[in-house]
Amino acid sequence: MTDTAPRVLLLEQIHPEAEAILRSAGFDVESIGRALDEDELVSRVGDISLIGLRSKTHITQRVLDAAPHLVGIGAFCIGTNQIDLDAASERGITVFNAPFSNTRSVVELAIAEIISMTRRLTEKNALMHDGVWDKSADGAHEVRGRTLGIIGYGNIGTQLSVLGENLGMKVLYYDTADKLALGNARGCGSMKELLTASDIVTLHVDGRASNDLLFGEAQFAAMRQGSLFLNLSRGFVVDYAALRAHIESGHIAGAAVDVFPVEPKGRGDEFVSELRGLPNVILTPHIGGSTEEAQEDIGRFVAGKFRDFVLDGATAMSVNLPGLALPQVPGTSRLVIIHHNVPGVMATINGVLAEHKVNVEAQLLGTRGALGYVLTDVSAAYTDEMLDELRALPETVRLRVLR
Ligand code: NAI
Repeated sequence: MTDTAPRVLLLEQIHPEAEAILRSAGFDVESIGRALDEDELVSRVGDISLIGLRSKTHITQRVLDAAPHLVGIGAFCIGTNQIDLDAASERGITVFNAPFSNTRSVVELAIAEIISMTRRLTEKNALMHDGVWDKSADGAHEVRGRTLGIIGYGNIGTQLSVLGENLGMKVLYYDTADKLALGNARGCGSMKELLTASDIVTLHVDGRASNDLLFGEAQFAAMRQGSLFLNLSRGFVVDYAALRAHIESGHIAGAAVDVFPVEPKGRGDEFVSELRGLPNVILTPHIGGSTEEAQEDIGRFVAGKFRDFVLDGATAMSVNLPGLALPQVPGTSRLVIIHHNVPGVMATINGVLAEHKVNVEAQLLGTRGALGYVLTDVSAAYTDEMLDELRALPETVRLRVLR
């Protein structure tokens, strides 16, 4: 534990579970329901050790320069674009996020949409609201026995694979990386192979730049007559004008789309898209991961990372530091050093310890890019002078001592 309770600032209505976890760890927490702009942040972060935010608060170099005690930033969401990661790393500040707290929520929405489209619920529902009783089985199907083609077999894709099979679907997937096939799912050697064999095609690729317009005219054209299409991954991955053309021609029977290349900034702003006005297209405002369960899990997950990082130096699943966790040897103090990843640095650090006759009881090193991270448990007999020497090494970015 550090000598004084770390001060935590939580912004943007982070789930109360996060505050509860941090308070029970002895941290001093202040929660503010909204995002802060750069000037507000600069005036508030002077004594803050940990800051939690969602997508609307931007952590810039200027904010970081105003926060000399900051050791951790928590993105209580998935994306970390709102944080200047390079600037944070240069200052030895660890960044965490919650990469799979809302995976299940996205998968459940995809399943709901697949069944809705297969049963033509959106059209039936619209007709009923217009007073039309159109009882017929035409064009309505079971999902059982249909072939689900998943493009991007990561956290979401694999989870969907499991639930899809539970509903009796045959699952095909295509991923650019080698992936373990779950259950009876079968990997395809190319996207084309998947497209020509699937009744339902669903995109779950990540947002790397090379996925820009991954799916356009050629890919829609390769899909089966009467098949369904879903995109709950990223808007820029799909050419929606091409999708519209294939829906209007009747080649694609229905689509569900949750993400768009340009999305309105706030609630109530107009949504502009070529996909508006198509009866067999389900449009949702990027809510794949938006459930109360996901929000609670995000709060629990990132707050847990903060706690373990401050109390034990654990960095498992950090966005910018190597992921390390080491059980602390009883009766020792832990030195947590973030350093430049250069040859000889460990010899230099351990040389300082040896000079001061401080024994190393346990040590764990990881490196990532330009940074190294080392946890060292030492016998308690060390001096402030030794710590000052370690801090003054040109290789040291940041040193913390956990007692
Ligand atoms: P992930 O990183 O676990 O999986 C992505 C998979 O896609 C990886 O296996 C990767 O190898 C594969 N991939 C990347 N490019 C590919 C390509 N061109 N062809 C085939 N495979 C490719 O990501 P996760 O957590 O499963 O998320 C998937 C997507 O869902 C992401 O884009 C994420 O931003 C989005 N998402 C959307 C949400 C929403 O509210 N609609 C909520 C959460 C995530």
